[in-house]
Amino acid sequence: MAYILGIESSCDDTSAAVLHDTLLLSNVMASQDVHKKYGGVVPELASRAHQQNIVPVVSQALEIAGIGVGDIDAIAFTRGPGLLGSLLVGTSFAKGLSLATKAPLIEVNHLTGHVLSHFIDTVSANGAETGTGIVRVRKPEFPFLCLLVSGGHTQILKVNAPLWFEILGQTIDDAVGEAFDKGAKLLGLEYPGGPHIDRLAREGDPQRFAFARPHINGLDFSFSGVKTSFLYFLRDRQAEDPHFIADNKAHLAAGLQETLIDILMEKVIRAVKSTGINRVALAGGVSANSGLRNRMVMEAKKRHWDIFIPPLSFTTDNAAMIAVTGYYKWLEGRTAGLDIVPVTRSSLMSER
Ligand code: KG4
Ligand code: ZN
Repeated sequence: MAYILGIESSCDDTSAAVLHDTLLLSNVMASQDVHKKYGGVVPELASRAHQQNIVPVVSQALEIAGIGVGDIDAIAFTRGPGLLGSLLVGTSFAKGLSLATKAPLIEVNHLTGHVLSHFIDTVSANGAETGTGIVRVRKPEFPFLCLLVSGGHTQILKVNAPLWFEILGQTIDDAVGEAFDKGAKLLGLEYPGGPHIDRLAREGDPQRFAFARPHINGLDFSFSGVKTSFLYFLRDRQAEDPHFIADNKAHLAAGLQETLIDILMEKVIRAVKSTGINRVALAGGVSANSGLRNRMVMEAKKRHWDIFIPPLSFTTDNAAMIAVTGYYKWLEGRTAGLDIVPVTRSSLMSER
């Protein structure tokens, strides 16, 4: 058994988590509100906030887990992808702690973390709750398909083993999270816009307005056309009626969300057909979207899929997913040296 400390600082959330093997003991998060008024993450401000948050967040994670720094068996940290200044804070902190405690370092790809969030145990073997308030999650059997949807990535993966992936399809331009956020910005909503679109869409009619759906071969995605179609549509209608956006916000949000979900689901359906694998998992920030979660449930019923939808606290960036990935690498003895440096751009590579 091992205590794994996970540290995540790739973008604008500072998070630390402690796992006992795969069992979650704590998952602490400090989100940064400072970016809201700028309409996007300001890298310089993000690094500064990480620097302020990292010590209290890690201390709190250890305290909630009921362990001291000396008990840590391995330190897993996000090496990338992400913002350099943000990654440097987590990486440097992890190195310092590793030097002080002699606990080995484990580098984690943030995207692998999102996928492996399905393997975090929230209830111990004897059925005891660990107090994190997260309900028991069911783990997918291998191989399974994973729709990974975040602010920076959109991919369909075949997951063969915890650290062995094949990319079946991915976006050729924007990520779906970006499409949510940019669409939201056009509607005058705060950053990040995805959750606002989600909330508004519940009160709107998704059929009222239609936006262009791309025709892309195979299992790849494209979202830049939707964004442009949305932009031009708003511009034209706003020119006729200056209150158009204000009067139709919920319908616009619902129409945009429906379009984005249709694009995602068309490819998931195709991936299940082409691989014959009917176990389908969702991962990444956009998997918090209630419309997408409902559509998955609906398609699963209709098509007899076995689906895995992460609890909300494991959808957006968190350190528990970094720690669980660290655990699987620790099992294989895959530790990193102190000369390791962050990588800002990396796609999900199989770890084998
Ligand atoms: O995984 P994540 O937290 O960070 C990245 O690794 O990028 O994903 C962030 C993305 C943002 O684009 C955000 O708007 C989107 O996830 N998101 C949502 C929802 N919650 C977060 N998009 C749609 N509906 C939501 N409820
Ligand atoms: Zn993420």
